[in-house]
Amino acid sequence: MAGAAVFSYSAIVERNWFALRWYEVPVLPAGSRPLRILHISDLHLTPGRHRLLSFLRTLDALEPDLVVNTGDSIAHVGSVLPLLEALGPLLDRPGVFVYGSNDLYSPEWKNPSRYVWRTSEGEHKRHVPDLPWAELGASLEAAGWMNANNRRGRVKAGDFDIEVAGVHDSHIKRDRYAAIAGPADPAADLRLGVMHSPEPSVMDRFVADGFDLLLAGHTHGGQVCLPGFGTLVTNCGIDRARAKGLHQHPAGPGPRQRAFLHVSAGLGTSPTAPVRLACRPETTVLTLVPRMG
Ligand SMILES: [Fe+2]
Repeated sequence: MAGAAVFSYSAIVERNWFALRWYEVPVLPAGSRPLRILHISDLHLTPGRHRLLSFLRTLDALEPDLVVNTGDSIAHVGSVLPLLEALGPLLDRPGVFVYGSNDLYSPEWKNPSRYVWRTSEGEHKRHVPDLPWAELGASLEAAGWMNANNRRGRVKAGDFDIEVAGVHDSHIKRDRYAAIAGPADPAADLRLGVMHSPEPSVMDRFVADGFDLLLAGHTHGGQVCLPGFGTLVTNCGIDRARAKGLHQHPAGPGPRQRAFLHVSAGLGTSPTAPVRLACRPETTVLTLVPRMG
């Protein structure tokens, strides 16, 4: 009885209880005005998720200078148009996107409890993508968003000159850091690294190249968490303490080169594991401000 109540809460209430998180990140040059980034991730959108679509439609009112989508946007062949419609005026803003594995492969049934006992790495046995990832990417690029899948480039956001580098999903071994490797431009206002899976070995390379701010998704914050304890797994190499939220990479004490790291717990769930427990679906506004000192 109690188990049924918890399942109903996590599948019906919390899964649709969208949170808006705010963080301030001191990463800009002295004297800069604030730069507002809207970080969305892991929508896993199916056309019938009307509450999620309605929430997306509210986000343009936040007036972000830049939108970053860290992947796993779709979970159905018919999701691209509803997604574009819901993003609406956000597509007129500067944007950056990468893919997650679930943009390529349609969901397969899995026991939802896998979130608390193992990783999904290696589960994508299929080799031919069956979701319209190319249509999704082409549509976002047509709107002017930068495709950052193993690509590097420059994005203008208002008067900010942002160097952006990104990788495709390392969770399915499609990341090609060599294609984007090299020192970041110290003359840029911000050096932004974008990826779906916050894999430490990939983030080490972004940091070594001088990127200031890293954005990722994929973990779902654990998706099924223990109240007061947090997630049991991260579904990739990052530690549990950084499964979501604003942290630094590398973690730990000592004076060394670091980047700020924001991991989004994401807005959705796989349709085959439609539950959230002690880990509300979320999107985040990162207000970038000048560095301290
Ligand atoms: Fe995801």
